[in-house]
Amino acid sequence: MCGIVGFAGKDGAKEKVIDGLKRLEYRGYDSAGIALPINGKIEIRKHVGEIANLEKIIQDDDFDSSIGIGHTRWATHGAPSDVNSHPHANRDNSIAIVHNGIIENYIELKAWLSSDYGIKFKSDTDSEVIAHLIGIYYDGDLHQAVNKAVEQMRGAYAIAAIAADEPDKIVAVRKDAPLVAGQGDGFNFIASDIPAMLKYVRSVYFIENNETVVLTKDSIRIYNEEGKIVKRELYHVSWNADAAEKDGYDHFMMKEIHEQPKAIEETLVRRLNPDDSINLDGISMTKEDLEQFNKIYIVACGTAYHAGLVGKLTIERMAAIPVEVDVASEFRYREPFIDDKTLFIAISQSGETLDTLEALREAKKKGARVLSVVNVVGSSVARESDDVFYTWAGPEIAVASTKAYTTQLICMYLIALYMGRTKGLVDDTRYESILSELKALPAKVESILNNKKKIESIARKYYKREKVFFVGRGLDSGVSFEGSLKLKEISYINSFAIAAGELKHGTIALMEEDALVFALATQDFLYEKMVSNVKEIAARGARIIGVAKEGRKELAEITDEVIYIPEADDIVTPVLAVVPLQLFAYYVAKERGCNIDKPKNLAKSVTVE
Ligand code: F6R
Repeated sequence: MCGIVGFAGKDGAKEKVIDGLKRLEYRGYDSAGIALPINGKIEIRKHVGEIANLEKIIQDDDFDSSIGIGHTRWATHGAPSDVNSHPHANRDNSIAIVHNGIIENYIELKAWLSSDYGIKFKSDTDSEVIAHLIGIYYDGDLHQAVNKAVEQMRGAYAIAAIAADEPDKIVAVRKDAPLVAGQGDGFNFIASDIPAMLKYVRSVYFIENNETVVLTKDSIRIYNEEGKIVKRELYHVSWNADAAEKDGYDHFMMKEIHEQPKAIEETLVRRLNPDDSINLDGISMTKEDLEQFNKIYIVACGTAYHAGLVGKLTIERMAAIPVEVDVASEFRYREPFIDDKTLFIAISQSGETLDTLEALREAKKKGARVLSVVNVVGSSVARESDDVFYTWAGPEIAVASTKAYTTQLICMYLIALYMGRTKGLVDDTRYESILSELKALPAKVESILNNKKKIESIARKYYKREKVFFVGRGLDSGVSFEGSLKLKEISYINSFAIAAGELKHGTIALMEEDALVFALATQDFLYEKMVSNVKEIAARGARIIGVAKEGRKELAEITDEVIYIPEADDIVTPVLAVVPLQLFAYYVAKERGCNIDKPKNLAKSVTVE
């Protein structure tokens, strides 16, 4: 949460920092601000709300500099307001900082700074203490002052700091919050994520925990905890800035829904050899390792957790290993049974979700082997895992995850298939058949997208409903949870998902005329049972939208609408069934006038507990 950007060059820092912030707005958009050193003073402009508000107040302002730092905020400590916005400065405005993360001992530090130094705090944030700490240690060397300040801080942070007396330098530091440095020709960047600088640089350094970076227009110096210079390989970014543009779509979410066929194909082809065997390049896990696992935990948050629900059923079915799925924030505080025969699978689009990262660390400490499914190359989850299966979805900007989910499902299938085959449980015929089903998915997703007008008209009919349920059985149950999350997060409708067979144990009490129910019935072997569940719902007067494979006529007779998906093997239908649900959520949110790409109270990357 929160995005930070720093630019050091010859001139034009204001434009570069604002441009970078706009590309980080997915990380938070409660307020934004910028600080530039000008004529021996630090000038700060900040404003509550989206970056557009900040731009308005600085558009006629001729302040500019050769370096600058900026911030886009997702509020944790202190409400969204001008005064709580970053950058924060020390007492005499000679130091300014931007911060992503949480300083856990800020109350203690605040008390000490007030009593021993008489410092009066302007904001309710934890972050302001950082500026004052650096301020009291500053004696002309920002790097040293930052090091001393950091020694006193507990928590998670990516910080960038500037000093009025050293107007050519940015000092940044990282602990448990992402930070990348970008190398340009005569200028350099520091930021929370690559898109912030992609318009200007393609070569980046990933900064590791407890490292400090000193950045000028001509150099990027990375120091480890002991203060020694670290040699780091430059990483070349292969995707370009266009991948982070809307490309003619009204919203990133719609663009990303449409990118799914390509993303699915890319994720598949990267893991298939020409002879159709699964390519394990970069994976160190051996056949022997795999044979000794007697338990798997899949741990993730939100949408990634929903991909885990499908992953569990798929791995259990194909590889006959017991799999438990848990949300990372719960997994961290229970007593899971982990030993060296446990495989821990973390799923994360960003690779920076703190709960997932901490759960992974916990599992590793207890001896588990860690395999992760991650979209962002070089992210913390990827770097701390033993092995990584990347989803090749490209940058996902919309807060509501779509293409990351479908590509996570593809990785789940590939992992299950590989395990099943290695254990001799998936024979050649079944292997080839599932593989051809997977290869057919991009075209099938495309055909659902070509039919989006129908889903738009259904959304127009029902967008005023305030109670929407998603039900299904087996793999459809997992997809129901994702459909419900998509709807609630972008349209703010009270939505709920439940396994269809569980309805009669209580929730059916809510199935009245004002309820709208999405009934997913794509699993052939559970179809008849699902039809019975739908009849029970229909008898209570709720409106029902069915989702089924082509030709399943019985469902049409007992529902108000049916959305058909192309014929496919039961095991891969989650990839197809979720697409109408994503489109429905999108069109409902649009009808209700919601901010689709940036829903209220949310942020794309959740790097706080
Ligand atoms: C919902 C959504 C979130 C994320 C969750 C985990 O659309 O995007 O629920 O799935 O915050 O994020 P990652 O996958 O980055 O760990």
